[in-house]
Amino acid sequence: MALDFPLDLRIFIVMRKKALTTGISARLMRSAKNAMKNAHAPYSKFRVGAAILLTDGKIFSGCNVENASYGMTNCAERTAIFSAVAQLGPKIEILAVSVVNEQGVPCAPCGACRQVIYEFGPAATIFFQGADGPRQARITELLPEGFRLQ
Ligand code: THU
Repeated sequence: MALDFPLDLRIFIVMRKKALTTGISARLMRSAKNAMKNAHAPYSKFRVGAAILLTDGKIFSGCNVENASYGMTNCAERTAIFSAVAQLGPKIEILAVSVVNEQGVPCAPCGACRQVIYEFGPAATIFFQGADGPRQARITELLPEGFRLQ
């Protein structure tokens, strides 16, 4: 931040940034929790919800959808992203993702979801439950060297 801004303006900018982050993550978490209620998780009994914030301010949410053929399971994060693409087309840009689970245990996005988040949000911030409590991380921290077709 430029140091020639007056001190009170600098404090305002820092506070505003923090407030924005807190507000957005809280809103995303609410959407994720709502979507979690729709989870289809009869096999793992692990209900997950996710919400994504796009650059245009829209929020999409999703839940995990399991299948008797286990490998066909879709995670909450991918459900949210695929429903945004289905609604708006592939030019979406993800700014932030929130992931919650019913048990409140640590749960970072799986490897497959990280790659899908990266496809639509290479600068996205992910809010999730880490080993020591709530955590936020850039997708590039969770997925270094994500794959991209040139
Ligand atoms: N799951 C998610 O939906 N998101 C995650 O970030 C981790 C795992 C789901 C997949 C499966 O339905 C259940 O949790 C147990 O792995």
